[in-house]
Amino acid sequence: MTSRRSFFRKTIGLAGTLSLSPLAQQALAEDISDALRSLNRLSPEQAASDEELWARMAQAFTVSSSILNLNNGGVSPQPKVVQDAVDRYYHYSNEAPTYYMWQILDRGREAIRKKLADLAGTSPEEVAINRNTTEALATVTWGLTLNKGDEIIMTRQDYPNMIQAWKQKEMRDGIKIKWISFNLPVENDEAVVREFINATTSKTKIWHITHMINWTGQIMPVKRLCEEARKRNIISLVDGAHTYAQMDFRIPDLNPDYFGTSLHKWLCAPFGTGMLYVKKENIGSLWPLFPNDKPTDSNIRKFETLGTRSFAPEQAIGQAIDFHHAIGSKRKEERLRYLKN
Ligand SMILES: Cc1ncc(COP(=O)(O)O)c(C=O)c1O
Repeated sequence: MTSRRSFFRKTIGLAGTLSLSPLAQQALAEDISDALRSLNRLSPEQAASDEELWARMAQAFTVSSSILNLNNGGVSPQPKVVQDAVDRYYHYSNEAPTYYMWQILDRGREAIRKKLADLAGTSPEEVAINRNTTEALATVTWGLTLNKGDEIIMTRQDYPNMIQAWKQKEMRDGIKIKWISFNLPVENDEAVVREFINATTSKTKIWHITHMINWTGQIMPVKRLCEEARKRNIISLVDGAHTYAQMDFRIPDLNPDYFGTSLHKWLCAPFGTGMLYVKKENIGSLWPLFPNDKPTDSNIRKFETLGTRSFAPEQAIGQAIDFHHAIGSKRKEERLRYLKN
């Protein structure tokens, strides 16, 4: 084991600039598998501080050795197995695009939907696959029927794309944004909930809630907010860009009406992959951005009528989920909390 590791370390020193020989690649793959097995023998708390294991795990990625990149959250690097899967599906598609993409790979989306739903703790019938959080939340912003004067509550700390979408809806349709703002960090969850409640009027239709605020990592009390929104017949729309596959939770535990996320963030799935969760009873009344022939149907697939796109990234989401499970959601969360602390 030791000699394999030292061989591996020497090899890695060169990995940033040279491509690995097949033998070195095999040693690397074996060492990563071995590190994964060791990691799985540890509890999330024990694993969190095991620097050697995480350093070996890091070799599953191909990140540059000449850049210290501190932003791996806005968009994450993909493990090599995911990059390889994208390449494979891409080459496969090119053998006969209309046949392999529309007749073969398109069907593979159902297996991906199921895997995403398993990780989210939802029914696959509530999960649509798309390109990112921006698209997921825009589907809701533009798909809900709102009337002039209806109010939406959001915070100054929400993500710019979402703020811009609601502002455009305000300009176009005459809805009204009611702003609240937080002096981050906020340590009192109930104070957050109170701000939302205090801004609510009889015209309030939506609470726009960011699960984890990207500027500071503040985690908002989403479960409590969704609960209070529901009591008042208010729609809860959750921006989960930074929590799916970073924190160990199930979407139904939060009980939102809508939840959007980007899979190219913490799941380390291919660039340009995202997910929209719509609670079953809301699917029928949400208009799709790109309609199919049954826009008022209760089939979640109506939100995937995007037209022709590359099927390779979508298919390789499966490899990213397998990689995520190999580490374990809780281990990942505890490691990130440990690094933060
Ligand atoms: C809180 C939050 N929401 C939404 C987004 C948008 O994500 P995407 O560009 O993948 O749509 C980001 C991006 O970093 C974000 O931090």
